[in-house]
Order: sequence, then structure tokens, then C-alpha cells
Amino acid sequence: MSFNIFILFFILILLFFFTFLFVGNLVGYFLTGVPFVSFPKKFLVEILKIMAPKENETLIDLGCGDGTLLIEAERRYKVKGIGYELSPTAFFLSYFNKIFKKSKIKIFYKNFFKANLKEADLIFCYLFPEIMEKLSEKFKKELKKGTKIFSLSFPLPNWPNKEIRYLDEKNKKWKIYIYQKE
Ligand SMILES: C[S@@+](CC[C@H](N)C(=O)[O-])C[C@H]1O[C@@H](n2cnc3c(N)ncnc32)[C@H](O)[C@@H]1O
Repeated sequence: MSFNIFILFFILILLFFFTFLFVGNLVGYFLTGVPFVSFPKKFLVEILKIMAPKENETLIDLGCGDGTLLIEAERRYKVKGIGYELSPTAFFLSYFNKIFKKSKIKIFYKNFFKANLKEADLIFCYLFPEIMEKLSEKFKKELKKGTKIFSLSFPLPNWPNKEIRYLDEKNKKWKIYIYQKE
């Protein structure tokens, strides 16, 4: 009997957890208009190589998802990582990852449009075209000279791009647009 109660309790906890993840994702989508979808993890090392951050530089991930990019950038390149998230699910996962991997990155449950980005040396984002349009203005106003922007999949309107790099050379589906504040 007590074993049955234990199983029931366990199932309830799992149900609660997955409901939280599901609802958290919907809330995030409702708040931002962008779903929490990570880029394929097989591209992680390649993306970091393209970004080539230097030790102690500040890397800001706008919509940091589960925090993987920031945590790996900190581990490999010793950068200072900062992430903003508004999806409760993604925020929870990134915080869990940060603690689990003993990372020092900072993650804020905050709309990145309300954050000041002036300390960024590098910016990473994987968002949607409408958001890139709004970010274009924010970057022009706020970023310091020399800050590099790496946008996965979507270009930054009204910015001359420095370069486009392909992650999958074969079918050229995944690309990063690179910009630098002048
Ligand atoms: C496509 S996902 C990318 C996640 C992660 N950067 C990655 O590449 O794996 C975009 C994320 O940006 C977050 N996001 C979108 N707009 C945001 C905003 N204004 N403030 C904070 N987070 C935002 C969404 O919640 C979502 O998790």
C-alpha cells in the first residue's frame, strides 16, 4: 500500500513538472512572440569558434534559452556570460544548468528590451525577424563601438553585415549574420 502511494506521488510530481514546462513555454511565447527553440547542439562548438570570444569579454545572449551557449562559452573561453529570458521554462532550465554545471554566468528573468546592453563585447541572438527590426534601433543607440553581433538565421535590418558564415556548408540552411558596431 505505501509503495502504491509512493508511485502515485511520483507520478503526480512528474505530471506537475511537465505541466509546468508546457505552460511555462506557452507563457513565454505569449510574452515574447518567440518560441523557446534551441539551435541544434551539434552547431554549438562551431558557433563559438565563429564568435571567437576573448577571456573576460562580456557575452550577452538575448533570449538565452537553456543557457547552453553561455555556459559553454564561459567554460571554453572564460567569458563573462549574461543571459535574458522571459520564458519561465527556459529560465528554469538555464538556471538549473547554471547550478548543475557550477557556472558563474548571470541569468535574468527580464525583457531584454528593458536591459542596458552597453557592457556587451559580443551579442548572440536566435530570434525572429520582427524582433531583429526593433533590436536594430536599440543596438544603434546602446552598443559601444566595436561590439560584435552574431545573429543566427535572421539578419539585422539596416545594418551593413560584416560577414555571413554557414554552419552546414552542404545545404546552407543554418547561417550566422555577423555585424560590428561602428
Ligand atoms: C529561438 S529561442 C533561442 C534560445 C537560445 N538562444 C538558443 O539559441 O538555444 C528564443 C528565446 O528568446 C526568448 N525571448 C524572446 N524575446 C525576448 C525578450 N524580449 N526578452 C527576453 N527573452 C526573450 C524566448 O523566450 C526564447 O526562449
